[in-house]
Amino acid sequence: MIRFDDVTKTYMRGQHPAVENLDIEFSRGEFVFLVGASGSGKSTLMRMVLKEVAPTRGTVYVAGKDLSRLPSWKVPSLRRDIGMVFQDFRLLPSKTAYQNIEFALAVIGTPRKVVRRLVPEMLEMVGLEDKGKRMPHELSGGEQQRVAIARAYVNRPSILLADEPTGNLDPSTASGILDLLAEINERGTTVVMATHDRSAVDRMQRRVVEMVGGQVVRDEERGSYETPAPVSVISGNLPDDSAHREEHPLDEDGLVADWDGAPDPEAPVSGAASAERLDDQPDEHAIAEDILEEDLIDEREARRARDEDPFAADDEENLR
Ligand SMILES: Nc1ncnc2c1ncn2[C@@H]1O[C@H](COP(=O)(O)OP(=O)(O)OP(=O)(O)O)[C@@H](O)[C@H]1O
Ligand SMILES: [Mg+2]
Repeated sequence: MIRFDDVTKTYMRGQHPAVENLDIEFSRGEFVFLVGASGSGKSTLMRMVLKEVAPTRGTVYVAGKDLSRLPSWKVPSLRRDIGMVFQDFRLLPSKTAYQNIEFALAVIGTPRKVVRRLVPEMLEMVGLEDKGKRMPHELSGGEQQRVAIARAYVNRPSILLADEPTGNLDPSTASGILDLLAEINERGTTVVMATHDRSAVDRMQRRVVEMVGGQVVRDEERGSYETPAPVSVISGNLPDDSAHREEHPLDEDGLVADWDGAPDPEAPVSGAASAERLDDQPDEHAIAEDILEEDLIDEREARRARDEDPFAADDEENLR
């Protein structure tokens, strides 16, 4: 459907390429997320699909056609088959929601009768059937984006390019827009969405292409916004005990020493951790409590120890 064959784009001589040695293919019906830092080349990639930008080197194919061989008079027909949605909606400000969608049909000479059927159908699909007469400034950001999506999809394009379509929206509105794009994809349109929206990517679990400095560094079939981090202190999976000690140097004299079995007479009496209490007051009841904690003897024996002196009494004794 879309293929980049060793494509490099350098906007200005001497500059680092915006896209470099790109070899990638997007198949019919796919939903692809393009992720990567600002300036990594996502928009450039999309603009090359629309033939808004020509590669410096390499070939871009859309529907099997080499775009560099596509005569300029055929470019409008290429763009007719590619819907485009932007972060800033780009609606015509002096036209109503209805007219914005109508316009996309009118410019390609769609008969009036078909227009009158299709526009209300699209407004309904995006949930704005009662807002066709509103001007863009009378619509919320999410509603404006819905109109923009309706306009981009009304010609039933085989490809829909969405460049940060949820970038200006709050999380719940963004999530509604994403559902709409997913529905369009389910109806058969290939969707390529450039985004910084972590939750969108993580929720959908679709193909993720990550770019860094114009190059693809990751291409995962069912990916998340980021590759899972290796074992780290943050994840709670401490690689070894020494990292823990470095993080908490005081443990050297406190808990860590306790773990080695050395009683610490300085340790404060605390109800929070029974192990500390044990070291402070090594009587038989506390020992029973500790055994429970460590699961070293069977339950029967532990119960016997508790029955002899319940915890309440035990705590009182410790406080004396
Ligand atoms: N028209 C232009 N002229 C010169 N350089 C450009 C032009 N458009 C983009 N660039 C440069 O190309 C590189 C890639 O830009 P691009 O817009 O493709 O990045 P992006 O991944 O879409 O970033 P963002 O997430 O901010 O939208 C950047 O270094 C940018 O400055
Ligand atoms: Mg961009």
